[in-house]
Amino acid sequence: MKKIPLSRVFLNEELREAALHALNSGSYILAKECEAFEEELADYIGTKHAVLCSSWTGGGFLLHRAMGLKAGDEILVPSHTAFPTIEPMIHFGAKPVFIDIDETYCLNVDLLEASITLRTVGILPVHLYGHPANLDRIFEIARKHDLWVIEDCAQAHGARFKTNRVGSMAVAGAFSFFPSKNLTVMGDGGCITTNDAALADDLRMLRNHGRKSKHIHEVVGYNLRFNEIQAAIGRVELRYIDKLNEHRRRVAARYTERLSNVVKTPPEKEWAHAVYHMYVIRTERRDELVKHLQSKGIGTGIHYPVANHQQPAITKIYSDLPRLPKTESAVKEILSLPMYGELPLENVDYVCDTILEFFGR
Ligand SMILES: Cc1ncc(COP(=O)(O)O)c(C=O)c1O
Repeated sequence: MKKIPLSRVFLNEELREAALHALNSGSYILAKECEAFEEELADYIGTKHAVLCSSWTGGGFLLHRAMGLKAGDEILVPSHTAFPTIEPMIHFGAKPVFIDIDETYCLNVDLLEASITLRTVGILPVHLYGHPANLDRIFEIARKHDLWVIEDCAQAHGARFKTNRVGSMAVAGAFSFFPSKNLTVMGDGGCITTNDAALADDLRMLRNHGRKSKHIHEVVGYNLRFNEIQAAIGRVELRYIDKLNEHRRRVAARYTERLSNVVKTPPEKEWAHAVYHMYVIRTERRDELVKHLQSKGIGTGIHYPVANHQQPAITKIYSDLPRLPKTESAVKEILSLPMYGELPLENVDYVCDTILEFFGR
């Protein structure tokens, strides 16, 4: 029987050698490899600066701190996202104001304005599954109400909104390099991209105990730094990201072509160049289908089975949580199929055959 995992990291000899080279270099934290990776990332995303940090979540702390987030502030954010999207803001006493999704599973921009209050300070769209959120409309609303925008790009390395890469258009973009992501460093890692030099300086200072020089601490900061071996790995991954993303798009096209008559396949907007971090279908028979695929050696995932506004950690804190009908019905039906940059198309066909067989086609 075939064994097809949900995802798999990209790993080659060049990458192993780069890791070994960094291991033997004698420098381990925020040195040459990190500097080069930051420059190459900024160049790739299309920003002036990229600041590496220990994870997306670590980057979120740095960003909210640098931008002066305070208790009582409100941020508009989709509920349908990874839980860490909302964690850093809550630690600062700010409140996530949850917005329902549209058919792309990103936040529904038509619902934003009704949720703005005098306490709203920003919008945090998530380019979920690698599909960009509708940034034109988000920026229009943000300008009108004087709000900042931070893009959650954890699942969207290389995705484009119209001609620009995500992470290049807002105050800042936040990326994750967790092993399942389109671009990984074989461990935890993240980065913030921005065109704002002062913000980049603050982030660099805050990630390294609030210092600009070795012995002088300007503010009380954190240790959310990055390291050399992982930067060396990330630099190799970055050289392959476009090729791997293009393959993801080929896989997605094959799934859509073969499955759109039996399940709801994910749409791609005309302004989007999605990078299919996940390929997510929808069916009312999701749980049965999972079991069937499992019995045929096919790995699947659910991203995410419990919406954040219904997580115990959140319902314990807030009593005025909204009902989000689109999110609440999606979480019961969504299913992520195998997807990675080197997934053979014959395996995609095997997954499709197995799904068609399940639906009696
Ligand atoms: C949309 C989204 N935001 C944030 C994160 C958090 O990333 P990290 O694990 O690097 O902190 C993730 C990763 O799970 C994610 O998928």
